[in-house]
Amino acid sequence: MIVLGIETTCDETAAALVERKDNGRGRILANIVLSQIADHAAFGGVVPEIAARAHAEALDLLISRAMREADCGFDKIDGVAAAAGPGLIGGVIVGLTTAKAIALVRDKPLIAVNHLEAHALTARLIDYVPFPYLLFLASGGHTQIVAVRGVGDYVRLGTTLDDAVGEAFDKTAKLLGLGYPGGPQVEQEARKGNAARFALPRPMAGRADCDFSFSGLKTALRLEAEKVAPLTDQDVADLCAAFQQAVVDVVADRLRQGLRMFRDRFGMPSSLVAAGGVAANESIRGAMSGIAFEHGTVLVVPPPELCTDNGAMIAWAGAERLALGLTDGLDFSPRARWPLSEVAKPAPAAPAATAKPAPRSLATPLAPPRGGAAAPAEAKSPPVPDDGAKGG
Ligand code: KG4
Ligand code: ZN
Repeated sequence: MIVLGIETTCDETAAALVERKDNGRGRILANIVLSQIADHAAFGGVVPEIAARAHAEALDLLISRAMREADCGFDKIDGVAAAAGPGLIGGVIVGLTTAKAIALVRDKPLIAVNHLEAHALTARLIDYVPFPYLLFLASGGHTQIVAVRGVGDYVRLGTTLDDAVGEAFDKTAKLLGLGYPGGPQVEQEARKGNAARFALPRPMAGRADCDFSFSGLKTALRLEAEKVAPLTDQDVADLCAAFQQAVVDVVADRLRQGLRMFRDRFGMPSSLVAAGGVAANESIRGAMSGIAFEHGTVLVVPPPELCTDNGAMIAWAGAERLALGLTDGLDFSPRARWPLSEVAKPAPAAPAATAKPAPRSLATPLAPPRGGAAAPAEAKSPPVPDDGAKGG
């Protein structure tokens, strides 16, 4: 099946076409991302109103370009998927409404995809990654450790109590006069710096849960910077190195704990999977690969262009859901907040005495595309950390 995917939850406008074969493997036919970084750079962060307008201006052209690149007409697609949240609501409305219009006019099923679910399933688009696995999702808007047990079946083991890890990189960069987004710049400066020069805390390390907190680290960094200001180039490099090392140590500690919690509750994970822009950081990837090895599992990191926000991940999550008969009505409401625990699950299979157990992740039955599980109720959940209103 071929699914069109639309992503507009934060500061990337993206459209993609992805094919899902009957054996469960995926293939990207086109994947076009238009970054709005230049529109927001002067403000040091994403401005929601500018983002929504930029999505509205670019989206239809991007979809046409993706269709041309994939050499695919609307008649050939089997479904239209859009990120329906969590994220900046103006952008989410643009993407979801566009998808609904296409679904209505072309008589195709709509799949309202949770942006976090799309990050969680991306590894399966590029690799054979059976359920269950442990996901570390680390972006500008999210920091979560999630047990991925199946499509629609996610257990969040840990999250951030305040800033997302990418946000901490961005704020550090801003404090030190580096550009936006800060992660790549902090990483580059850190290569020239001495991490041992400044003693920074490792917040939450050693705790029995696998939650994160970055606000104390941010404050400690600011205090150290103020002590040595005005900053020389070497000061900036040393501060970046110290900050990055603190983050790496915290991530390593929290992931070790997350893997222990996973094993206790669900057995061995097939893999440790990274997603989100922060997974591009080499030091963090290095630490993750060591931890995976220690725990007798493997690290799977999608290529950088699939770790950061993109349309292929939305199309793929849409295809995985469509293959299970999970579609949504045209009345599906866009959601600024949408925790993974509220994503609709496939209906449990009817017990059949003679049924053989299904293979672990491949060959899910191709259910009729329309009229699957109903859209999840628009539950009003109390605000919880990192259920997404920041997008990304
Ligand atoms: O997944 P992503 O594109 O989603 C959004 O949050 O929109 O991630 C972007 C985030 C930014 O906070 C950026 O600073 C961070 O990922 N990032 C990095 C690196 N590359 C991107 N953080 C640390 N090291 C990097 N190399
Ligand atoms: Zn994202």
